Amino acid sequence: MLVPSKKPLMDEKEIAVIVDKLGAKIALEMGSDGPITVLGLLRGCFVFTADLVRSISRHGGIIQEVDFLIASSYGSGTTSSGNVKIERDIRFDIAGKNVLVIDDILDTGNTLNRITEHFQLRKPKLMKTCVMLDKPSRREVAFDADYIGKSIEDFFVVGYGLDYDHKWRELPYITIMQESD
Ligand code: PRP
Repeated sequence: MLVPSKKPLMDEKEIAVIVDKLGAKIALEMGSDGPITVLGLLRGCFVFTADLVRSISRHGGIIQEVDFLIASSYGSGTTSSGNVKIERDIRFDIAGKNVLVIDDILDTGNTLNRITEHFQLRKPKLMKTCVMLDKPSRREVAFDADYIGKSIEDFFVVGYGLDYDHKWRELPYITIMQESD
């Protein structure tokens, strides 16, 4: 049976430092251009988004609004595919706005690639992407996030919003799933 390792890959302190740095950079680079419309990709993004918007605010950035989109992709097993379906779209008009798209993890790239294409059709003034974790070795489509918390190897990680079969999102640290002793 797979269980979360008790030895975190990233502890709360490391996560806080990363979120603080990302918030400072985004507030400086995007915030100088005006208020930021934040769009989170549920469900995994909810913890990171809550921390990141407050970090951006602490560093002087103004958040205009926050909305969420639910997307799902039908791949094989735990891997997403290019067939990304939007289950719940955002409610705001993003035309002419400075948009920051937030996700917890960038893996094959299929989800963010498809969703950013979908948002671009609505003509935002500027669109940037931010992920807490990046697994570059898993990429299937050429997609890079503008802001990355940390690049990691191909570990199956949970916590800080990330799940295994919808569990463990509440862990305040990020850890690897492993066989129980
Ligand atoms: C995860 C994660 C990203 C996506 C990344 O979502 O939150 O949205 O996969 O994978 P990709 O780069 O291979 O497309 P998941 O489908 O597990 O749903 P969840 O957010 O509800 O956990």
